[in-house]
Amino acid sequence: MKVCVIGTGYVGLVTGVCLAEIGHSVICVDKDEAKIKMLLSNKMPIYEPGLDSLVLKNINSKKLIFTTDISGSIKSQDIIFICVGTPPLPDGSADLRYVEEVAKEIGSNLNSFKIIVNKSTVPIGSGDWVSMIVNDSLNEKAASGNTNNMNNTNASKFDVISNPEFLREGTAISDTFFPDRIVLGSASKKAIDIMKELYEPIINQKFELADISFDPKDSKRIPVVETDLVSAEMIKYAANSFLATKISFINEIANICEKAGADVKKVAAGIGLDSRIGSKFLNAGIGWGGSCFPKDVSALTKIAAEYGVSSQLLNSVINVNSQQRLLVVQKVQELLKIVKGKSIGFLGISFKPDTDDTRDAPAITIMNNLVNLGAKVKAYDPVVKNMPDTLNVKVIMCENLEDVFRESDLIILATEWKEFAEIDYESMGKLMREMNVIDGRNFLQRDILTGLGFKYTGIGC
Ligand code: UGA
Repeated sequence: MKVCVIGTGYVGLVTGVCLAEIGHSVICVDKDEAKIKMLLSNKMPIYEPGLDSLVLKNINSKKLIFTTDISGSIKSQDIIFICVGTPPLPDGSADLRYVEEVAKEIGSNLNSFKIIVNKSTVPIGSGDWVSMIVNDSLNEKAASGNTNNMNNTNASKFDVISNPEFLREGTAISDTFFPDRIVLGSASKKAIDIMKELYEPIINQKFELADISFDPKDSKRIPVVETDLVSAEMIKYAANSFLATKISFINEIANICEKAGADVKKVAAGIGLDSRIGSKFLNAGIGWGGSCFPKDVSALTKIAAEYGVSSQLLNSVINVNSQQRLLVVQKVQELLKIVKGKSIGFLGISFKPDTDDTRDAPAITIMNNLVNLGAKVKAYDPVVKNMPDTLNVKVIMCENLEDVFRESDLIILATEWKEFAEIDYESMGKLMREMNVIDGRNFLQRDILTGLGFKYTGIGC
């Protein structure tokens, strides 16, 4: 099928290449020329395991094209994915200006029936709003005498469908090929059927991943949730908010465990075995960050407020998460007493492993607080090599592990990169001034570190 993906961010890029891989003809469009140039020379704008080889393979087989030509791409393709960013506005609500721009482009370039797929995370009701903008733009075109050869009513010229994504950074490709479910929300049965046809190889798990070393799950049929537009939009917010709630919940439990002398890892294992609870997303630590949970949970509270619904639970989820970062600062003070003049090394900066994304990374908040308290902060991350300029964080970036451990009074593990479990802590410890470690993800082996002479502090254990 002929697909156009507008926006080559995380979602657009991964969606585009995966659709090409299962046999569709995909054009990925972005107005950012530099980004398209990068992609054409097989340089990825994001760090995502497996992405570069998949992109190269599909460019070579001519199933994937990158371009800045939005109008030509809309005209030549039948299914148009909107995958542009919806960054948070200062009040926490989603900024829809990019979605609006794209909807206008689609309207003014509509030359045949199109399915418009909204994959960007948008506030409830945005599907109808997109329809309105496309219609307005079409009508403007008609009024100016340029009808793109379409002469029936606007209603039959396009259908809008919400198809939220549930991919995680770091595992985005396997999440796309092996999703837990596919959500399709539209008033149009035709649109839902066309999308089911598009996703058929994924729904029936019938595709070959020659160059990719993923372990396919059981090749059972992937459930498809067919629903209305608004419910599909809500599913996205509710899913992310529930996961964030689960993490804030276990972090609050961790804080109680710490006082009462219980071990949150054991508690999480004990409750997670209850199939009604489930063991995933119960890792206590310095909390959630990234570009999705913070934005989506806040946006949902704004949506609730618009309807006069008080989102007490979600606001607490956000507060617990902010506190969780500050708790680490308190732990540092308890441990070092005087923070001023102390040297603190961070292992990991990105908001989670296997990504270079530092947006709302807990590590950065903690670093900032420690710098403000007068500490000398150093950091090493396997992928993040520079601090985003916008953050103005005074952190010494280390090129290797030795530099981050050398002369440090404390090491804080902020991101559970696999390689941090494999560090030779015995030799690294010898480089330190004081062998203190705060394990912000409960990721390291307390017994081994303690045996080596480290003073180990976990979160809730
Ligand atoms: C999240 C969702 O998991 C995806 O389903 C969704 O599609 C995506 O947002 C999105 O809306 O685009 P992502 O932000 O990539 O994905 O990362 P997660 O793996 O969900 O982790 C989010 C944060 O929670 C990270 O900071 C992670 O360290 C933290 N976390 C996760 C915990 O603190 N404890 C856990 O048990 C799990």
